[in-house]
Parts: sequence; C-alpha cells; structure tokens
Amino acid sequence: MNILIVGNGGREYAIALKLKSEKNPPKLYFAPGNGATSELGENLKIKNHNELADFAKRNDINLTIVGPEAPLSEGIVDVFKAHGLLIFGPSKAAARLEASKAFMKDFLARNGIKTAKYLNTDDKNEAFKFIDFLSVPVVVKADGLCAGKGVIIARTHDEAKTAVSDMLSGDSFGEAGKRVVVEEFLDGFELSFFAICDGENFLSLPVAQDHKRLLDNDEGPNTGGMGAYAPSPLATPHLIKRVENEIVAPTLRGMKAEGNPFCGVLFVGLMIVNDEPVVLEFNVRFGDPECEVLMPLIDANLSEILLNAASGNLDKIDFRLKDEFAVGVVVASKNYPYKSTPKARINIQNIPQNSHVAYAGVSEEAGEIYADGGRVLVCVGCAKSIKQARDKAYELCENVKFDGMQYRKDIAWQVLK
Ligand code: AMP
Ligand code: GLY
Repeated sequence: MNILIVGNGGREYAIALKLKSEKNPPKLYFAPGNGATSELGENLKIKNHNELADFAKRNDINLTIVGPEAPLSEGIVDVFKAHGLLIFGPSKAAARLEASKAFMKDFLARNGIKTAKYLNTDDKNEAFKFIDFLSVPVVVKADGLCAGKGVIIARTHDEAKTAVSDMLSGDSFGEAGKRVVVEEFLDGFELSFFAICDGENFLSLPVAQDHKRLLDNDEGPNTGGMGAYAPSPLATPHLIKRVENEIVAPTLRGMKAEGNPFCGVLFVGLMIVNDEPVVLEFNVRFGDPECEVLMPLIDANLSEILLNAASGNLDKIDFRLKDEFAVGVVVASKNYPYKSTPKARINIQNIPQNSHVAYAGVSEEAGEIYADGGRVLVCVGCAKSIKQARDKAYELCENVKFDGMQYRKDIAWQVLK
C-alpha cells in the first residue's frame, strides 16, 4: 500500500511511525515532510494541490492523510476527490468548523450544542455593547485562522474593546480579524477530545491534555503546545459519554443534514465547567503534540482505520486501545516562541526502552539531524501508569542534546501533583 502524508510536523511523523509499525507497512510519501520523515519514506517538494493529486494518481497512492489545518481549509480534500482519490480529512466546507469561529459558533447554536455565550459580528458598536453586557474577563476571537494567536483574554472591558477595534480594522490579523466573536470567559479545566469520523460514524480516542504555556506552572507565553499526556483520568467514563452524545454525535448529524458531512479528525477543545463539557473550539485535524501521545496508544492498524474512515465504512472497524498511558514532552529551540533560532546539531545518546522521539522542526544534512524550527521534537514515554510514562519521557529528554534546547519539567502535573 502507498500512503501520502501532507504536513511537516511531529504530528505527521507520529502518524508515519504508527503506520510503519504495521505488519505489512505501507510505502510512505510526505509533502513536504521534515528532516527525519525522509528516513520513513520519501519527501516531496510538490506544494500545489492539483500537482500533488497528479502525483498521487501516477504513483498509485491508495490513501492521503492530511495533518495540518491550512491545506484542509484551502480545499485539498475537494481537489483530491475531484481526481477520484481517497483522502482522509474534511472538505473545505466542513473545515469551516475550524477555519471560521463565526461559522462554528453559529453551527453550535443552531444545533443546541453547549458553548460559551457569544456574539458574532463585524460591527464595532454592536461588539462594544455586548462587551459591556459581559463580566470580565472577556474573550475576543478573530474569525479566521491565525496560527493559534487569534484569541485575546481581556481583563478589562477597555482591553476587550481595543482588541475588537484592532481586529476589525485589519491591523492585528488582516482579513482573518474582519469579523470577530466576543464571548464569555469560561472557568474550568481544558481537555482535548478526538474523534475519527467518516461522515456518520466515529471512533473516540483517549482524552488528552495539552500544555499551551511555555514554562512550568503554566507560566509564560502561549505556544503551539509544550507537552501532552493521555488518557487523562480527569475524563471520567461518564464525561466521555456526554461528550460523545451531546457534542460529537449531534455535530456529525448537523453537518450531514446541512450538506457538509464531516470526515476526518474532529478535535473538540473542551472546557469542563462544574463537571459540564462545554465546547471552546473545534479543530478539524489531530492536535500537535496530542497526536504524538495518541498514536502509540492505538492497538489496531491505523491504515485500515483511516482507509475505512475516508470511504465511509468506520462501522466495520474492530478498534482497540492499549491499556497504557503516554506522555510527550516537547523539546523546543532557544528562542521559541518569540523568534527563530540558528540551526543546531542534535545528538541523542541513547533511546531508553518504551520511549521514542517524534521529530518535528528538524532538517537533515549529511546524515545528521539538526534542530531547525520552534518545536524541534517530542520525547514520548509509554507505560502502565502516567508517572512511569512521564519518567520514561524525561529519561529520554536527558539523552537529547542540542544548543539552546528547552522543555517543561512538569508535563502531566494536572494528575501527578
Ligand atoms: P481557541 O483557539 O478558541 O481554542 O482558544 C485558545 C485558548 O484560549 C483555549 O485553549 C483556551 O485556553 C482559551 N479560551 C478560548 N475561549 C475561551 C473562553 N470562552 N473562556 C476561557 N478561555 C478560553
Ligand atoms: N495542541 C493544540 C493544537 O494542535 O491546536
């Protein structure tokens, strides 16, 4: 079997590693991949979606898996389908669940799915009135994709109004900010819920928890995510059932009824408020670094799951999860997330048992791997308890050496106080 993976991060590397662990591993292609995926398959330079679909046809690609949100919201799935190719991911219309916060919030409201009270508007005065109506803090979100930077938690009404003005004028996020969502602040704890969907059916993955802040004790600036663990004991079986029945199932029903069936990964960003699961956001892809801890927990052929999901046959899948925990610690470069850092050679002395590296921001030169991006790699540990899994992950971190490397020392603190 031939599989094409679109993307270049640790998420795509983790998917590839899982596919390569199958009994009959598929041949892999990456567009564009990174300096380490070239060891698992062939990296392609093709960017244009039509050209990529041509490549897929000429090279008998059986399945394409799309990692990041950008190609999905640009419509890569529609292009591949028009070429008669099998691809795992949502159409451009369905990807609006992530690409437009206004669409997502209105969809939730139409379908009676619980989310923060909000206003979707492109009118400054209307936004200001709603801000005055809310108590602080007030949350202001740019409608479009902003690489995770489009959410402002304003501590005062004035700060919220300034954020709205800067967004609507196009100053802070260009076109993506010309419509805004203003919403109430929710107080609780966050969980990442993942469902693999085929348009109608879904499979739930272990519930994960991300660590968005750069520094220990959840201090410092927001990042793409500095570590994750799964499954989280904070997600009780009762809570999981509620998320499935009150959020995922009605979302799939609603999307189908509106003519945009959702195929792909539905990533529900949840805030748990007084035991109630509330939708903060949807993403239409695996989370990164969540994917790096989810992949090792699947006890089934990933290729078979995703092939069946892409062709609307998830109900035929025999799906099992391992009775284990995984912890992933992101090792980032010196200046992350502020500015880029000069390339640095990575040296890994030893990879302890039950641990592995998922490579992200790396390049390859003369057989050596270099740190060449913000989030460089993820050290993943797996074990029968979260504590053991965390110890494994940190044992591996200590074996990784490159100039300026930084990582959080408290991943999974939420459950290991
Ligand atoms: P989003 O991109 O919508 O997930 O927002 C990014 C982060 O902002 C979330 O992971 C939360 O930590 C925070 N956030 C977003 N919306 C809210 C809200 N209504 N109340 C509290 N925190 C929020
Ligand atoms: N880890 C959060 C995200 O991938 O958006």
